[in-house]
Parts: sequence; C-alpha cells; structure tokens
Amino acid sequence: MTASARTPIVAGNWKMNLDHAAGIALAAAVAGRRSEAAGVDLVLCPPAVYIVPVAGAVAEAGGDVAIGGQNASDKEQGAFTGEIAPPMLVDVGCCYVILGHSERRTLFGETDASVNAKAKAALAAGLLPIVCVGETLEEREAGRTEAVVTEQVNGSLAGLDAAALEKTVVAYEPVWAIGTGKVATPEQAQEVHALVRGLLAGLASAETAAKVRIQYGGSVKPDNAAHLAACPDIDGALVGGASLKADDFLAIAKAFAARSA
Ligand code: PGA
Repeated sequence: MTASARTPIVAGNWKMNLDHAAGIALAAAVAGRRSEAAGVDLVLCPPAVYIVPVAGAVAEAGGDVAIGGQNASDKEQGAFTGEIAPPMLVDVGCCYVILGHSERRTLFGETDASVNAKAKAALAAGLLPIVCVGETLEEREAGRTEAVVTEQVNGSLAGLDAAALEKTVVAYEPVWAIGTGKVATPEQAQEVHALVRGLLAGLASAETAAKVRIQYGGSVKPDNAAHLAACPDIDGALVGGASLKADDFLAIAKAFAARSA
C-alpha cells in the first residue's frame, strides 16, 4: 500500500482550552467548511464536558467531522471517581480517543503499560485509539530517539493483533516540539515515522503496517504542514495550538488533502 492509499487524518487536540460557546463556534466553523479538506478524515477532540455540544454543533453544520476524547479509562465502568470509560465516549458520539499524550505521560504518570491497557479497552469499546509516542529533547540529544520510540511503540501497542493495529492511529510527537513552535524538520519526522512503520511490521506484518496511519504532532502550523504532508510516512497531523482557530486547522488539513488528491 502506498502513502496515497492511506486516508490522511488530521485531529485537533484542544487540550484544556476554550469554553462552551467558543467550542461550539469552532466546531461549527470547521464542520461548515469541511469540504475544504475533502479526502481527509477530520477529528475534533474537545475537553470531555464539551463533547456533547461539540458533536451537536458538528451535526447541525452537516459536517462529516469525527469527535474524539483526549483520554479514557482502561476500565469499563465502576467506582473510579473522575474517570471516563471508553463506552461512555462511544455513547456520546466519539469515534476516537487520544491515548498516552506526552502531557498525560509526564504530568499524570501514564506509562506504556497503562497506555496499552487503555488502548485495549478503547478498542474493545469500538473506539479508534490515537496512541502518542515521542522523545524528549534530552533523549534526542543523547541519541536515544530510536530506543525511546521503539520502547514506547512496542510497549503501548503490545498484544494488539493485526485487526486492532489497523484501527489504531499512531501519533509521533517529539516532546520538544509540542507547544514550543519548534517543529521537527520533515527529514527528522519522516525518519521516525519510517521507524514506527517498521516496528508495526514487527508487531504484525508489513502489510498491516502499511495500512496504519501515523500522524506527526508538535507545532504543526499552516506554514509547515505542506512539507510534512509531502513525506511518504506522514499520514496526518495531531494539532494542538493551531487547532483552536478554524482557519489554521483547515489550512493544515488542506495540506494533507493535497497529498491524498
Ligand atoms: P501543538 O500540540 O500543536 O500545540 O504543538 C500538539 C499536541 O500536543 O498534540
């Protein structure tokens, strides 16, 4: 399978930003202009409390835009105060869930093992997980990028069979590029994306690996998206800051639409 056979996927990770009204307005704007990025899967990941109104705004605007959670529990239900179960995300209209974002790993103690358990629970509930991996600046400067990403991919995706891996999106997000304005060069990103695809082949087969979409994340902006989109193993973007403006988010998506055309 060639790069152009994978449907690009551009997801907006709103993190803990916007309020009810601003979230609805942004979702309506993106959904209303969805045709500008034809051929690209679009996903909006609002804070959990805004999932329902955001899904409503997307439906009202008639946009084919998917909704995702930013995190989920590895449990199905029960006495886990403050947690959100994958079936609950499905229940309110989510198709995707971001798992193991570097902020969750560094600020909330998530590990490859916990991300792996969450990925399995998400898949069991029918969600498509977006599993994030990526090295810190210190790790890159120590020449450990390959070792770190290898451990994260193999640990976070352990035990997923070919069918599960095909439903999974991997997001390579170098931690030093997240929210810093320092984007990886297309060469740096492509090198790690090719590594990830090789690891996926090792977990399943080359055929399966060729079907998995691998997003790049970390300071993706309208002015750097086209160069990233031109790389053969970069199948989309996980966008933080720039996803908070409809113009910027759609411009990034458009860059990937050009690749799929
Ligand atoms: P950024 O965030 O685009 O603001 O760098 C990306 C992310 O954290 O997913």
